[in-house]
Amino acid sequence: MILNIAMDGPVGAGKSSIAKAVADRLGILHLDTGAMYRAVGLSAIRAGVDLQDENAVTEHTKKIDVSVAHSATGQRTIVDGEDVTDFIRTPEVSMAASTVGKYLGVRREMVAIQQKLAATTPMLVDGRDICVRVLPNAPVKIFLTASAEERARRRWLQMVEKGDTTPYEDVLRDLRARDAQDMNREVDPLRPTEDAKIVDTTNMNFEQTVEYILKIVEETIHE
Ligand code: DC
Repeated sequence: MILNIAMDGPVGAGKSSIAKAVADRLGILHLDTGAMYRAVGLSAIRAGVDLQDENAVTEHTKKIDVSVAHSATGQRTIVDGEDVTDFIRTPEVSMAASTVGKYLGVRREMVAIQQKLAATTPMLVDGRDICVRVLPNAPVKIFLTASAEERARRRWLQMVEKGDTTPYEDVLRDLRARDAQDMNREVDPLRPTEDAKIVDTTNMNFEQTVEYILKIVEETIHE
């Protein structure tokens, strides 16, 4: 059987870095599905598509080719042959990803690509709808979360390290706005499934979280 691990969680729960570390320790790939929605958002912005226009965004998504490649440094995300990995982490693209992620047609396209990848390759897939939609039969399901204040604090510290002077209050406000959009959308809103193990990292550091998740994986697989 192919080992697939499903991991969902809100903005800034540390999903991407935790998921990568856990996948590395297990010797499997990490699929960052948020990067794919970010790639769609970036591509739509560049093409001048009105992000509020569901039909236009959906048509645009059907025309482009979103794919991923795995390198030694992690996932590269590619749109129509261009590696966009370095352009998808701006606040504008973050919000655009959340907006395009509301649309059923966009989600269908992305979910199909993700399911095809996970069907043949052992991977840890992280996102918002992985437990409920992408990998409903995954043997291990994790919902990674932390308080909004703690998630904003971590995000803000990362920004400070990069010399960004955005105030903490602004980071918290943006994070709450994206949480609200991701949790209240009609199609597959972010929420923990009943069979997911909830991992609240508010009081855990990176290493503790990785170890804790590895323990869950071990216990679940040997059940
Ligand atoms: O995980 P992230 O912050 O990189 O995701 C960016 C946005 O993409 C997120 O706010 C909502 C959307 N997204 C989604 O709708 N479904 C996923 N599986 C992953 C991300």
